[in-house]
Amino acid sequence: MSQARITVDRDFRIGKVPHRIFGSFVEHMGRCVYTGIYEPGHPQADEQGFRRDVLELVKEMGPTVVRYPGGNFVSGYRWEDGVGPVEDRPARLDGAWHTVETNEFGLHEFIDWARLADVEVMEAINLGTRGVEAARSLVEYANHPRGTYWSDLRRSHGAEEPFGIKLWCLGNELDGPWQIGHKTAEEYGRLAQESAKAMKLVDPSIELVAVGSSNRQMPTFGSWEHTVLTHAYEEVDYVSMHAYYQEHDGDAASFLAEAVDMDAFIDGVIATIDAVKAAGKHTKQVDISFDEWNVWYQRGLDTEDQPHQVATKEWTTHPRLIEDTYSVTDAVVVGTLMHSLLRHGDRVKIANQAQLVNVIAPIRSEEGGPAWRQASFWPFARMSQLARGEILQLAVDSPQVPTAKFGDVDAVDAAATWDEQTGRLALFAANRGLQESTELAVELHGLNAAGLRSAELLRVPEGGDRHTANTEQNPEAVTLVPLQQAGIEDGVLHATLPPLSWAVLEVDVSVG
Ligand code: AHR
Repeated sequence: MSQARITVDRDFRIGKVPHRIFGSFVEHMGRCVYTGIYEPGHPQADEQGFRRDVLELVKEMGPTVVRYPGGNFVSGYRWEDGVGPVEDRPARLDGAWHTVETNEFGLHEFIDWARLADVEVMEAINLGTRGVEAARSLVEYANHPRGTYWSDLRRSHGAEEPFGIKLWCLGNELDGPWQIGHKTAEEYGRLAQESAKAMKLVDPSIELVAVGSSNRQMPTFGSWEHTVLTHAYEEVDYVSMHAYYQEHDGDAASFLAEAVDMDAFIDGVIATIDAVKAAGKHTKQVDISFDEWNVWYQRGLDTEDQPHQVATKEWTTHPRLIEDTYSVTDAVVVGTLMHSLLRHGDRVKIANQAQLVNVIAPIRSEEGGPAWRQASFWPFARMSQLARGEILQLAVDSPQVPTAKFGDVDAVDAAATWDEQTGRLALFAANRGLQESTELAVELHGLNAAGLRSAELLRVPEGGDRHTANTEQNPEAVTLVPLQQAGIEDGVLHATLPPLSWAVLEVDVSVG
């Protein structure tokens, strides 16, 4: 058994937990919308066709904000196709995912669903095939009270009150050659600036996200952000980041350490933002919207999930696309990626796990069948429920694990929050080691531990292995179980973390 020590000090704070860091993403892709959140005729569907079973799981998981309607999809989307009487809405080819989009589900349906799910809407506009005019029309349609063409059209479609959408994405992944309407940084930077200006002229209260790099490996990473922000710094509020991780060639150790990559990626984008801020003598602060992140088994760009490959197949509605099944290993990685986001909560103000249902998602559903939680549901659910108040800066002294990709890394990866109002400390900790248990001791400075309120663990279940996952047949193979070996002794919090595990501890504390 190895030993790790974490020191928590009430005065060493990163910042307040950003409410929007527990976001998710609903794209018109595969079965995320159709047979995911929406399936008229399903035994659990409500009168609008929203699946109640899926909605209940979404509420339990607790996303705070949901990005919509894409993703790659948005770069060829006409938002007007998804409003008005359903029988008048046109079916269109979605080139991004080689799918027939019926437009049966559109903006009003999403707003209604978001209200039921109690989530904020984060709306993406199409800057692939469209531009300033469509962008400002949509803001007017959504947010202007009445008395103009677009606002009165919304009212004629049954929404008397404006939707009041505050958060808008200025397109999606336009640095990527796969994107419909792919642009150079110069082209996009100017378009983002002018779209932002026109949108804010309609509603000055909105917040805007400029497209950053699609991933850290993009050849234009760094220079893209620099050029885009040099044009649009004053007009935008956030720059986006996207990252997907997967295990390569059975190298679980490197995969489990991918939060190291996420940490470095975020630090790099912060440096670029701040360089543009300094050079441009700006005083406002642009922050980060990490609006796509997750584990995704992409298996290379030549698989049948990829758009250019599916193009030879038939056009269908809601095909089964990238429905990854997540194991215990994947869930531990998801936990550590969330730690990384939280540790950067002073600059990462929005983050959206991609996606919410079926498509690389923590929730799965079958057409006409059940819905269930994937293993990766649990770290998200507990962190969105319990991370409150101040994010604390931790000093972690951990045994090391060797990795091929990152060298030696800490076996224990952690994040913590302290809510002075409720007197609760939440500690989230993963053991990324695959062999050894780790005995964790957490020393509190400036806080007295009064009692352990709860302690839960996600680990390899009895009789399972690191690949064990939840399935339709066995939806509860991987769940949270009580962390038995945890307690407080002489004011020090102790917990034993089994190999490959993720733990959450809730402690009652007083200021001392
Ligand atoms: O989330 C799946 C896809 O990944 C999104 O459509 C795109 O933005 C990203 O490449």
